[in-house]
Amino acid sequence: MQLRGKHIILGITGSIAAYKAAILVRLLVKEGAEVKVVMTPLAKEFITPLTLATLSKNPILVDFFNPENGDWNSHVDLGLWADLYLIAPASANTIAKMANGVADNLLLTTYLSAKCPVMVAPAMDLDMYNHPATQKNIGTLLGFGNIVIEATTGELASGLSGKGRMEEPENILLSVIHFFSKSTRYSNTTVLVTSGPTHEPIDPVRFIGNHSSGKMGTCIAESFAQQGARVIFITGPAKVFPSHSNIEIIKIRTAEEMFNAAAKCFSSIDIAVMAAAVADFTPISTSLSKIKRESNDISIQLKPTKDIAASLGQSKSNKQLLVGFALETDKELENAVEKLKKKNLDIIVLNSLNDQGAGFSGDTNKVTIINKKNKTLSIDLKSKTEVANDIVDFIAEEFDRLRGKG
Ligand code: CTP
Repeated sequence: MQLRGKHIILGITGSIAAYKAAILVRLLVKEGAEVKVVMTPLAKEFITPLTLATLSKNPILVDFFNPENGDWNSHVDLGLWADLYLIAPASANTIAKMANGVADNLLLTTYLSAKCPVMVAPAMDLDMYNHPATQKNIGTLLGFGNIVIEATTGELASGLSGKGRMEEPENILLSVIHFFSKSTRYSNTTVLVTSGPTHEPIDPVRFIGNHSSGKMGTCIAESFAQQGARVIFITGPAKVFPSHSNIEIIKIRTAEEMFNAAAKCFSSIDIAVMAAAVADFTPISTSLSKIKRESNDISIQLKPTKDIAASLGQSKSNKQLLVGFALETDKELENAVEKLKKKNLDIIVLNSLNDQGAGFSGDTNKVTIINKKNKTLSIDLKSKTEVANDIVDFIAEEFDRLRGKG
């Protein structure tokens, strides 16, 4: 009973693979999950609600309300109830609507309001699956952080053979079990994430800053939180912030404030990820009033800020794991490894400004992760959500080794 007490919504769309949903419901229920089924109107043509209601022991939801008595089927409540929203089979049409925020049936409104993780198992003909539009839509869902269970290759309902078959219910069940075991991987673990830029004031209206949006740090914090960690998120004035009940957000402005906030909590931290783009220099003094325009040149004297990562590196115990980032423009690998040693980090994530689509403000990134033993993992250009999941997986292996579990 590996899914005991788990609440799962199963979304079924109009695809011939819908008949397999009956087996899937049975397998999920057998493992102890409580399953509520939402169907698109077309899905009813492929499998009867009566079959699914009997197997799931719950009424089937198709319409926004019950036409007989006006009872409202609240997609918001449904989304809050669920620990996982599994859409299997997911047709090309539904995937396209999900990717574009279309909300013309209960399955889709539930998707848009769901707070829980979403898993999607596509099923369609091979040419539909291969079409750039479908592949782009699947990419969009991955970018939203949805988990996609890849279609398999084999005989299709059209008589053709190729990639597009929904994964078998037994394997979907394994993915669901794996997902839930991962979702508690970091319970009892406290993670510190620094994120965003810092602003170093010159006078009441001006500051030294940088282009960091805070997206990478946000995705990392959310990935840890989704896997059960308690996260302390210390952020400068960024454009985005994480949202998850496990995440405590501490907003600071300057490098010094970030340093103080990080130092204060560090002794209770198991893993620290330094994703912030901390200003390296700060004005020696801040003018109390706005500096007036002069006809002459002016100079502002700067002093280095405290290096937060290096300071935590000095004080860390052998039970704490410290992860830094390196943003390099030349001799990237060499400089990153040098930084890892100098700051006494366990892992460094190298961002190269030379790579298109990687770095500060965008939604994608391409990184290389390196540990102390020079184990290197290169991650190709993908959404920051996916890159964050890969970084967190790499950290998990290292953390297990550190705690003697690996
Ligand atoms: N970092 C920090 N505190 C600072 C400067 C950097 O904690 N005052 C952290 C960053 O969050 C990152 C790592 O150190 O995890 C490397 O940052 P980076 O800017 O690449 O390196 P610097 O040490 O500033 O070196 P340089 O700018 O000379 O490359």
